Amino acid sequence: MTTTHTVIGGLVSTGRDAAAPVTLITGGATGIGAATTRRLLAAGHRVAVNGRDRARLARFAAELGAGDAVLPVAADITDYEAVSVAVKATAEHFGRLDHVIANAGFSTHDNLADGDPDKWREMLLVNVLGPALLVKAALPALKESGGRIVLIGSTAGIKNTPGNTYSISRTALTALAENTRVLVTGAGVTPVAPGRVDTPFWSTHPDHTVAPGPVLTVEHIADAVVGALGRPKGVDVNTVVVRPTGQLH
Ligand SMILES: NC(=O)c1ccc[n+]([C@@H]2O[C@H](COP(=O)([O-])OP(=O)(O)OC[C@H]3O[C@@H](n4cnc5c(N)ncnc54)[C@H](OP(=O)(O)O)[C@@H]3O)[C@@H](O)[C@H]2O)c1
Repeated sequence: MTTTHTVIGGLVSTGRDAAAPVTLITGGATGIGAATTRRLLAAGHRVAVNGRDRARLARFAAELGAGDAVLPVAADITDYEAVSVAVKATAEHFGRLDHVIANAGFSTHDNLADGDPDKWREMLLVNVLGPALLVKAALPALKESGGRIVLIGSTAGIKNTPGNTYSISRTALTALAENTRVLVTGAGVTPVAPGRVDTPFWSTHPDHTVAPGPVLTVEHIADAVVGALGRPKGVDVNTVVVRPTGQLH
């Protein structure tokens, strides 16, 4: 199996202390992930930012201007070896790992009747297998730190619409979250289900734009994620659903 992981280093020190929480986020350089990365840094975290596009990760890290509080870790989350290396590199670089956020995902924006089954395979790998691999790879470190796992799903995983293939992948994430929660009693598990958010997620939609109706900003979801991570020890927020007011599904 080939390893697609890379660490891009060479950053200046920000003097954040060694007790500052460390969070690894997948798909952390765009959309909801990028806003969450910014919020995490503002809240004093050190952040390992994942995605597949190394050049974009490097640009994003430079843009953040957060020095060695940011570690870009390029990896395809559907490759267990690459995910394991990214988790290990994060723990080694920062000396600990407190939280992981499985955020990477996409939609084929189609349905069972007229969609392309070849595209569903990739969607299921990224949206379901990827988060499961991240949980498996991070569990030993999270057990040690007593940290938290956040899984970004969707309201499409709660409300079904006719034949919605993306919804199937998001419903599976809800099951992953609950099965993980009862497995890991020392770490918190929070599935976060956003409603419609204006991000590059919609660039692959046939209309190339966010579906009509009310929409959230990326900051609304970032606030919910960082809020869940910031709960006092012993408090586990288990389901967060954030819709724009007026979204029906
Ligand atoms: N926007 C919405 O309306 C909405 C609503 C509900 C839920 N969500 C969910 O929110 C999450 C974030 O999406 P977004 O809206 O912020 O869209 P986005 O900007 O397109 O973010 C998707 C991210 O996932 C990364 N990614 C995709 N495949 C990957 C892989 N195999 N390995 C590693 N990283 C991968 C992408 O980076 P690379 O291309 O560099 O890999 C990208 O940074 C997704 O799980 C999405 O399903 C979005």
